[in-house]
Amino acid sequence: MKKTVVVLLTIVMASFACTSVQEGKELFEKKCVKCHALEKSLNATKDLAGWEKTTKAMIRYSGGDITEKDAKKIAKYLAGRK
Ligand code: HEC
Repeated sequence: MKKTVVVLLTIVMASFACTSVQEGKELFEKKCVKCHALEKSLNATKDLAGWEKTTKAMIRYSGGDITEKDAKKIAKYLAGRK
């Protein structure tokens, strides 16, 4: 019984994590294309901390179009790409 709960929780958490990465991708493709090509980001390799720093800078440029929440999801997606 306990095992079933653990397995179910793991599945729920895993699918939640996937959803937020998928959301990050969609936000990225929608919000990060307004000023420069997506390739500018897709060609860069940064770790999560690096992407958080970059997306924070883009929040300032965007004048409110990108929120902190968007930026976190986008950073997660960009850092997680292989
Ligand atoms: C309002 C316009 C604007 C939006 C929206 C924008 N950028 Fe930028 N971005 C810039 C400008 C201007 C520069 C060049 C200045 C610089 O390098 O800081 C830049 C530079 C960059 C760079 C190269 C510099 C670096 O730090 O690596 C990357 C990568 C980048 N943007 C990614 C993104 C991502 C990811 C998003 C979406 C979260 C985004 N941009 C949204 C204006 C924008």
